[in-house]
Amino acid sequence: MKGTLKFAGAAVLACSVMFCGAAEPVTVRIHDANDNHPVIPREIYGQFAEHLGTCIYGGLWVGPESPIPNEEGYRTDVFEALKALEIPVLRWPGGCFADEYHWMDGIGPREQRPRMVNTNWGGTVEDNSFGTHEFLNLCEKLGCEPYISGNVGSGTPEELAKWVEYMTAEEGPMAKLRKENGREKPWKVKYIGVGNESWGCGGNMRAEYYSDLYRRYSTYCRDYGQNRLYKIASGASDYDFNWTETLMKLVGNRMHGLSLHYYTIADWNNKGSATEFSDETYYSTLGKALEIEPVIRRHKAIMDSYDPDHRVDLMVDEWGTWFDEEPGTVRGYLFQQNTLRDAMVAALTLNVFHRHTDRVKMANIAQVVNVLQAMILTRGEEMVLTPTYHLFYMYRVHQGCEYLPTDCDAGVRKVDHGRTVPEVSVTASRSAEGQIHLSLVNPDLTQNRTLRIETDRLQPREVSGVILTADRISDYNDFGQESKVKNRFFDDFKLRKGVIELELPAKSIVTLTIR
Ligand code: AHR
Repeated sequence: MKGTLKFAGAAVLACSVMFCGAAEPVTVRIHDANDNHPVIPREIYGQFAEHLGTCIYGGLWVGPESPIPNEEGYRTDVFEALKALEIPVLRWPGGCFADEYHWMDGIGPREQRPRMVNTNWGGTVEDNSFGTHEFLNLCEKLGCEPYISGNVGSGTPEELAKWVEYMTAEEGPMAKLRKENGREKPWKVKYIGVGNESWGCGGNMRAEYYSDLYRRYSTYCRDYGQNRLYKIASGASDYDFNWTETLMKLVGNRMHGLSLHYYTIADWNNKGSATEFSDETYYSTLGKALEIEPVIRRHKAIMDSYDPDHRVDLMVDEWGTWFDEEPGTVRGYLFQQNTLRDAMVAALTLNVFHRHTDRVKMANIAQVVNVLQAMILTRGEEMVLTPTYHLFYMYRVHQGCEYLPTDCDAGVRKVDHGRTVPEVSVTASRSAEGQIHLSLVNPDLTQNRTLRIETDRLQPREVSGVILTADRISDYNDFGQESKVKNRFFDDFKLRKGVIELELPAKSIVTLTIR
């Protein structure tokens, strides 16, 4: 569902802010006095890997016979980069692909697996060499939770039920088959998605019809042994509030989570270049990205009215920027470059998620390698880490930490469509060891900001910092070249009587560690 948001909340937001002059210092206060703050779920930093373009084949997986360095078929360079990112959860096999995927084609000896046409994405013929074992073993190696997206669009309840049994049962016919295929012990699988975008590529269903299908398919997704499934219903696309309302009414707490997809797209017919854009387009992109917050608020309000006890979570299991595919790449592969603008979108969006963890328990950026707002890009045996990768690396310190509320008296910039972008966006968390991590985002292309950072309780004695910035907002990391956009040491601050005074450069993101 595409469109724009029209509701009173946007106007309220725009009127309640003030502008601050360029030279005005900004005060940031961290409310760290209390001890009972909510935790930022690690799963907010989730990733998504679809059989789309070169995300799986060529990106994560090259096969054991490949000349590209690999370990048991997994690309070594990509694997190591992902390991460093401390991914909490990885969603697979789609996306739209999920509703045409028949898992039994992807088990057994690889050379005997049937081939298939990936009709959603470029009509590529795939050999099914990356299947259930390859995915779940990868998750084990990465130390992340797998999130299996099940086929409701073209599959049967029996097929989905057997997949769950195959993956998680100790004994029985499916466990026997799994053992014959070389895996003795069941895997631990927590997250199971019951369809994807069932309003669109997942079957073009009405919310009422899908609600009934959800009830039916999920009934046969059983808990085996110690494994406990967490079932996620296919949720709304951005502004489709009716979908959420209908599912809350008709499915209720038969689901553990309800998904939401929100992409930062300017216009479906004219998405714009990932690397060549005007200053105006840049601010417009941020405005659109930030509209995820009123969208989340409105889905939350609907959920609150049906579920005041918060038994159903909101899972933003697809989000990120969506620009034109890079010239010269295969149509339908959604391969786009990634600039400092993308990192800015990621930072601002993660700051939004941190504010809504009372309901938002998972988010999966689309996608992990070579597709849309990727962490990693590969070309043959070459690999680059994108600005978004560096942002996720910088922000990983917030995972699983106590969320600390903050105040920031910076104003906002008005952008197109009545949207706004904050002059400074901040988020803070406290680790189990008691150190505070404070992330500061200055989206302005030319203005540095002078910040005074105060805490309620902790008397800062020691501060260190990391910065992500570049000469130009359109800078990106390219194959065969020195990275232009990467994390660097930052120390442009002073600690005076417990207050941190800091100069936040234009178009930069900084994370401080405060002890
Ligand atoms: O992430 C690309 C596609 O976007 C997914 O396959 C689909 O779920 C969404 O429309």
